[in-house]
Amino acid sequence: MANPRVAGPTRHPLNRRQPHFEIAIMNAKNDRSSWLKGPGTACSVPPGPCPRPYRLVLLGAPGVGKGTQAELLSERLGACQLSTGDVFRAAKILDPCDRTPALNQALDFMKRGELVPDSTVLQMVRERVNCLRCHGGFLLDGFPRTVAQAEALEGMLTEEKLRLDAVLSYDLPIEQIVARLSGRRTCSKCKAVYHLETRPPRQAGVCDQCGADLFQREDDRPEAIRVRMDAYEKSTAPLADFYRARRLLVSVPANGTPEEIFNRTVKALNGG
Ligand code: AP5
Repeated sequence: MANPRVAGPTRHPLNRRQPHFEIAIMNAKNDRSSWLKGPGTACSVPPGPCPRPYRLVLLGAPGVGKGTQAELLSERLGACQLSTGDVFRAAKILDPCDRTPALNQALDFMKRGELVPDSTVLQMVRERVNCLRCHGGFLLDGFPRTVAQAEALEGMLTEEKLRLDAVLSYDLPIEQIVARLSGRRTCSKCKAVYHLETRPPRQAGVCDQCGADLFQREDDRPEAIRVRMDAYEKSTAPLADFYRARRLLVSVPANGTPEEIFNRTVKALNGG
């Protein structure tokens, strides 16, 4: 089905340069060290030869399934999942004395479900600009989240002479999102995401991929979920118009199983 939200003769962003979104099974799982720990750390599995690096942004409300889709896209495309939320959560396990005051403040915002200030987020992304340059491409998950962040990203990519291929916008009714959030469990080590009912691990409480313990995020409490949804409506939803105006927006209904949504994503990227 054609995507009604992207109009015009060059309706589909990827069609400008490549008519088919080719899926190659890369099977290389990068530990994302450069992204999670900062520029002083090398990735354990740097991307191998990549016929076509994809540079995508994943947009959508908290809990819609961006991280789950980013994992699937990363496995198939080889591009690294760059989640700003994962960077903040990784910083949580540092000794508080090793965190900057801005980082401590960021963790407080996050715990309450509020957005971290743009200045802190942008400083953190600028320090990791090497990940945007990565020849394996990237999947930005949770960034940008405000128009100011989107403008800053545009500036960074222009400086690096890089372009986004598309911005995937995932949509789902709020009741289904809340059910996804309340059953979520996350791996404490590799950050793989599970759901108690729809994507359970083989052994309860243990990650299938690395054997580490699973935990429930503190911002998945009902009061923090409400704050996150408000922040999304106010600050992040306007990004759909920002990217629609740049003919980059690709809308994807986020109902169904992760595989169904993944297949829908690929179809939507290919023009529907
Ligand atoms: P972040 O970590 O980015 O969280 P989020 O955007 O709130 O998104 P989530 O990770 O909660 O959900 P998701 O859409 O990835 O869903 P998932 O795949 O896990 O940010 C956290 C916080 O950090 C923010 O609140 C803010 O404080 C701060 N922050 C981060 N970036 C920032 C920025 N740029 N600016 C300012 N502040 C920032 O899926 C959810 C659950 O559903 C899982 O259990 C999963 O298994 C399940 N599921 C997924 N797909 C399906 C399906 N198809 N069917 C059934 N279940 C499914």
